[in-house]
Amino acid sequence: MDYYDKVREAADAVRSEIRDVPQIGIVLGSGLGDFAGTLADAVTMPYGDLPHWPVSRVIGHDGKLVIGTVRGRTVAALAGRCHMYEGHGGPTVTFAIRALGLLGVRTMILTNAAGGVNTGFSQGALMIIDDHINLMGTNPLVGANDDRFGPRFPDMSEVYSARLRRIADKAGRAIGLRLPRGIYVALLGPSYETPAEIRYLRTIGADAVGMSTVPEAIVARHMGMEVLGVSCITNMAAGVLPKPLDHAEVMATARRIRGQFSALVENIVEQL
Ligand code: HPA
Repeated sequence: MDYYDKVREAADAVRSEIRDVPQIGIVLGSGLGDFAGTLADAVTMPYGDLPHWPVSRVIGHDGKLVIGTVRGRTVAALAGRCHMYEGHGGPTVTFAIRALGLLGVRTMILTNAAGGVNTGFSQGALMIIDDHINLMGTNPLVGANDDRFGPRFPDMSEVYSARLRRIADKAGRAIGLRLPRGIYVALLGPSYETPAEIRYLRTIGADAVGMSTVPEAIVARHMGMEVLGVSCITNMAAGVLPKPLDHAEVMATARRIRGQFSALVENIVEQL
């Protein structure tokens, strides 16, 4: 069975479990998975129960698809994502995005935990992604192109929709937040960056750094979806503060701002 048919089969399996097809998808980053629990009239599908669906083993990532409503709109929430640093290839890392695309999702909200490279940021801030720089050393579209998904050479001149960025900005103000905007740089990981690498990233225009999101954004655009990216600045990047980085801090910060995060996402969904 080829990759497209596997994705199709997974999407069909999801569809058979739900009443209304979601037009909005959201990938929940490290520590932000609790949002899935706030959906009303929810159907929960553990990844392991869905055909061909890859399962991530990273702590802090749940591994379930939850479809339910947010302010009356049907939303597909992915709690748990696969990362390149786990050793997966692009097709595996972006399988869930492909499946939601075939299911009918048109708007994809990608969220992540990220390190703050811009020293003007504070820990716990929610940054709207204006654009990205892919330093993962690979691209999820490497390999034969399947035209049923999208073109061989997809345009990336507006990966993160200007329209959705305006909506996110407005949603932020509605809940009393002025959200910073910036450039997200994706590295392969899983080691955190060195202080020298962070100085380099700042030089090339980075505001935040992480190990996810970019493959998903590329694939979502390949399929013609509209993309919004939101980074939770869970920590200042290496060398900014005189202390080491650790995953526990990343998780703790994301959990601390989950109320704000939920309010923001709900407000965004309402305006879509
Ligand atoms: N670097 C890379 N990825 C991250 C970081 C970081 O500082 N924080 C959360 N994810």
